[in-house]
Amino acid sequence: MSEQTLTQSATYERLCQVIPGGVNSPVRAFKGLDHPPMVAHQGIKDCVIDVEGNKFVDYCCSWGALVHGHAHPKILEAAKKRMELGTTFGITSEIEGELAQVIVDSVPSLDQIRFVSSGTEATMSAARLARGYTGKEIIVKFAGNYHGHADFFLVQAGSGVTTMSSSSSAGIPEAMVQHMACLPYNDTAAALRFLQDPAHRDNIAAVILEPIAANMGVVPASHSFLEMLREETAKMGAVLIFDEVISGFRVGREGAQGYYGIESDMTCFGKIVGGGFPAAAFGGKRAIMEYLAPQGPVYQAGTLSGNPVAMAAGLQSLALLSQEGVYEELERKTNIITEPVKDFLLDNNSNACIQQVGSLFTLFFGKKAVNNFDDAKALDLTTFAEFFRFMYQNGIYVSPSQHEAWFISTVHEEEHLEKTRDLILEFLKKSM
Ligand SMILES: Cc1ncc(COP(=O)(O)O)c(C=O)c1O
Repeated sequence: MSEQTLTQSATYERLCQVIPGGVNSPVRAFKGLDHPPMVAHQGIKDCVIDVEGNKFVDYCCSWGALVHGHAHPKILEAAKKRMELGTTFGITSEIEGELAQVIVDSVPSLDQIRFVSSGTEATMSAARLARGYTGKEIIVKFAGNYHGHADFFLVQAGSGVTTMSSSSSAGIPEAMVQHMACLPYNDTAAALRFLQDPAHRDNIAAVILEPIAANMGVVPASHSFLEMLREETAKMGAVLIFDEVISGFRVGREGAQGYYGIESDMTCFGKIVGGGFPAAAFGGKRAIMEYLAPQGPVYQAGTLSGNPVAMAAGLQSLALLSQEGVYEELERKTNIITEPVKDFLLDNNSNACIQQVGSLFTLFFGKKAVNNFDDAKALDLTTFAEFFRFMYQNGIYVSPSQHEAWFISTVHEEEHLEKTRDLILEFLKKSM
């Protein structure tokens, strides 16, 4: 083992002494990849540099938060300037209204939003508010969609789609998930059966989903599936919640709802809206949002919610995204990688595919299409692990799981994208 490798592994060992698994979020441990985790030291534009000084082109970009790459000078400047005025007040401040206004103006379904510090808080609070607003109990979610780690969201599908779900993590009493239902994604007939079942139809508070699922790899919902959910929830008086923590401001200014032309009643945001700082939000129609404390009876709060430094970074991040042609340019850059790879896979009738929406995509091994969680569970993880190691050895960092997305930023350099494309093709040629 080289001295360099020891440096990285020694650092990780130290981390493991004081932090469970050496990480503060499990996927960072590179489990199942037969590869030691990266210990990051610095980010510069589209690259991340580890503690040994090795440089990687970064396609994880802090799980999509860094749509303008690492340490963007304008975002740094905005955050520093704001920091000099104080880093937190615990008192409402003007800048919170500025970012709220930009988000509300961008997404037509929103009248109001409230800021929190993580996507987990956003979805958890949205679900509570939907229950408080409707006075109903059941939340419907879909298998393979991730909505953060609040107890009641950690559920798996029951034995049949008409049964309730059970918890998918230790430490969660069944009582916490007894009003959750987990249905198959993109299965219109199954969802319709559940939603129309008189046994619980009148007790459904909300249906929540990622309209473009990105936590089993990128799996867009079909238009007809979303349309049906929109119609049924409206009919039954349930709240339709789009979890746009990933897709919000990623696939366009209006997020997935703009992409599909279907509006939700409530929307959750995270990642991009904080410009690389911890900020997230949930919002929706005024009639629903007014149920929140202090106006309404649904309690929700946070010491660092609407943190002014995060607001400044978020404002700058969204300002950069408002420039003419920015989403077209993000997609053009992404296509430098994805189009030749898609062509190769088709020409060779390979058992792999790319699923993409704009600058968000996943290269799947072991399936020609992935439409739901059952497909995602059948993917070829061994080939993905080989692919991950091959790319890593060649200076490319892709999200360390087959069930995650690649994120292209506005600062990814063409030369890096071309190198990445060539490496993917090299890997596919020798392994497919
Ligand atoms: C769609 C979605 N919702 C919610 C969350 C939870 O966000 P956070 O990790 O900020 O708590 C994530 C995290 O990746 C996510 O992808």
